[in-house]
Amino acid sequence: MTLKDFRIYFSEQLSNLYPKTEIDTFFFILIEEKLSLQRIDTVLQPDFFIENPILKHLKEITTRLLAEEPIQYILGNTEFYGLPFIVTKNTLIPRPETEELVSWILEEYKCFNTMQNNAISILDIGTGTGCIPISLAKNTTNTLISAIDVSKKALEIAKQNALLNKVTVNFLEINILKANTLPKQFNIIVSNPPYVRELEKVEIKNNVLENEPHLALFVEDNNPLIFYKKIADLATKQLTKNGLLFFEINQYLGKETITMLKEKGFNNVTLKKDIFNNDRMIMASL
Ligand SMILES: C[S@@+](CC[C@H](N)C(=O)[O-])C[C@H]1O[C@@H](n2cnc3c(N)ncnc32)[C@H](O)[C@@H]1O
Repeated sequence: MTLKDFRIYFSEQLSNLYPKTEIDTFFFILIEEKLSLQRIDTVLQPDFFIENPILKHLKEITTRLLAEEPIQYILGNTEFYGLPFIVTKNTLIPRPETEELVSWILEEYKCFNTMQNNAISILDIGTGTGCIPISLAKNTTNTLISAIDVSKKALEIAKQNALLNKVTVNFLEINILKANTLPKQFNIIVSNPPYVRELEKVEIKNNVLENEPHLALFVEDNNPLIFYKKIADLATKQLTKNGLLFFEINQYLGKETITMLKEKGFNNVTLKKDIFNNDRMIMASL
């Protein structure tokens, strides 16, 4: 089959399930990854012949996409903050909102960097693929970065991602809900913990619900801030003077999260919206 014919086949198969722009994105990702062809080659080489074994593989991928499996899990990788990351079904697929959180931390880090000579210590809680600490490590100097997750399997992937991106992160297997203390004092503590309430499951797309780890996503309706409260408690004791706490938050719980942080003694609490205009990130200091 030629490249042009495969594109027609691919679009016809997926057109009932995905918008055209998304189908195009999938197509270009696939031909780059599986045929080492660029987007421009679909114009320059429409008659490029796809040999049978690879065509069979591409059709299998099409079937998996039809079953709403995320393309990142099918390919086993994704990009975050311009960096490559391995993803498996034990790790959440990093989201663009989290890239915005990383950008915010990097802006604030610049002030820290001019204020102190010692290395700046950063802790990420609930690290998944390690996307937050690894992109911070890649874009900072003079930092010592640690990251925690309860999932052994997620930590294995995060370690591979640190190697892939040639950075050093100290990964620790800890259940943060059971921790009485953090390993040391930190200048910056960041977390994108599980925050989707069971009642919000109806809003979650099938491809997320059926493929991504529920451990990474859901909290109980009656205590949706469980992770935020616990991390705030630990941070009140273990942030350094002038230390900063950053959270990615549930867009519907901005007010509640701010109130909780103020009750726990955080004086400066700033809420930021993401590019979709949803309440999404908080920075707080004592
Ligand atoms: C929303 S995901 C965030 C993953 C990653 N930081 C990101 O932004 O893509 C939450 C992460 O918290 C981890 N987690 C869940 N419960 C935890 C616990 N009790 N202690 C530590 N980590 C936990 C999950 O394994 C998951 O990796």
